[in-house]
Amino acid sequence: MMFTVRVIDITKNHMQDMPVHISGWVRSIRTMGSVSFISLGDQSCLQPLQVVVDNELLSETTGAIKTGSSVSVEGTVMASPAKGQLYELRADTVQLLGASDDNYPLQKKRHSFEFLRTIPHLRVRSNTFSTIMRIRHAALMAIHRFCDEEQFIYVQTPIITQADAEGAGELFQVVHKKNEDFFGAPSYLTVSGQLAAEAMACSLGRVYTLGPTFRAENSNTSRHLSEFWMLELEAAFVNLFDNHTIAERLIKYVICTLLDNHQEDMEFFSRYIKKNHIDELQNIANTPFERIEYSDAITLLSKAKRSFEFKPTWGIDLQSEHERYLTEELFKKPVVVTNYPKGIKAFYMRMNDDEKTVAAVDILLPAFGEIVGGSQREERLDVLIKRMKECGIDQQEYGWYLDLRRYGSVEHSGFGLGIERFIQCITGMANIRDVIPFPRSVGQAFA
Ligand code: 4AD
Ligand code: MG
Repeated sequence: MMFTVRVIDITKNHMQDMPVHISGWVRSIRTMGSVSFISLGDQSCLQPLQVVVDNELLSETTGAIKTGSSVSVEGTVMASPAKGQLYELRADTVQLLGASDDNYPLQKKRHSFEFLRTIPHLRVRSNTFSTIMRIRHAALMAIHRFCDEEQFIYVQTPIITQADAEGAGELFQVVHKKNEDFFGAPSYLTVSGQLAAEAMACSLGRVYTLGPTFRAENSNTSRHLSEFWMLELEAAFVNLFDNHTIAERLIKYVICTLLDNHQEDMEFFSRYIKKNHIDELQNIANTPFERIEYSDAITLLSKAKRSFEFKPTWGIDLQSEHERYLTEELFKKPVVVTNYPKGIKAFYMRMNDDEKTVAAVDILLPAFGEIVGGSQREERLDVLIKRMKECGIDQQEYGWYLDLRRYGSVEHSGFGLGIERFIQCITGMANIRDVIPFPRSVGQAFA
């Protein structure tokens, strides 16, 4: 009986002495005396499998098995005398599946992330990128589990829309190559599923949507993508405070799940990507987030014993230097900032009694800045219409959205969490382009 396995199964199931069949890609191959050692990776776990092969077995494929080749091996699992690995595979047969050659770009040496960004189709065979992808998967699964446990229903909001949900004009237009009037009105790639999620929440009570969103921002930074994934939760009968409490619990739930169940991969980041990374994540998971109002944040910033490039005055949007001061120097933990000036926030946010601020919330993390943006939504029809007029938004186009306020309007709130920013926080990766398989940003939509 021969078991077809992946590398992870061998250690997980303690398969010592068992005959197995396994396939993967050659990370490296070296010959010592009468045997060769193939480091075989299938990206099912961090550690590749060491395959020990008598050179005789390689006679048919001599020289053809190179770094980057795909091979299939049959053999027996043995306890390994080598350091750092429990098991190795003694090969009985080795079959070359797909050859490679010396041009294979992932030769066994450390490559810069800049270089690896030029080969997104191959970089995921490396330790760093395969580990990121396994963790990204595990984080998304944990998100789905959290939402399910909290009775949020997974709904799918459209990618093609006619609304600018954020009212910021950062839209990519969708045009039919031959028929410009295909949808009957200008249509765009969505910047946020929120407005549609609101409609779903105002029937189903609690919903979430998770999909790609698109922003035509001209920001070429390590925290912005033109195409990124966003998780958006939306709940009826929930106010601003309960809203960010849910967000805080979600963030902690996902981090704890990863630290508890994916230790080997998580330790990789602490060892090779960012010092003290696990400690920082534990700090996020174990301390209550700080909560302050925007106006108080501005006061604290203007009292800071240091200077900022952008002077903190009431009405400005918090810049990343301000966010970093609050999270890293002042509070040393995640900070929830609420009640921003209406002038810097979207039209749908609920007007506060002071008529100057709206019920907005941002969650800021040390070293990463804003990870969550959300608000309590304006549920009062007259106030919303007034606000839309102020923002120059055409009511006709949002008739359906106003209907939600005409027929059984309710208090409701929601937030959006940028998946890539969250994965940056979880992995410690400095550049957002390195936590998504195929990054899209200004000047780049490669592969
Ligand atoms: O703060 P934002 O713009 O909020 C919204 O879109 C709301 N409609 C969400 C809601 O209330 N349902 O975006 C939410 C999050 C940000 O906090 C950030 O994490 C991420 O999305 N984000 C980006 N991530 C990568 N690249 C970009 N260009 C991003 N813009 C926003
Ligand atoms: Mg925001």
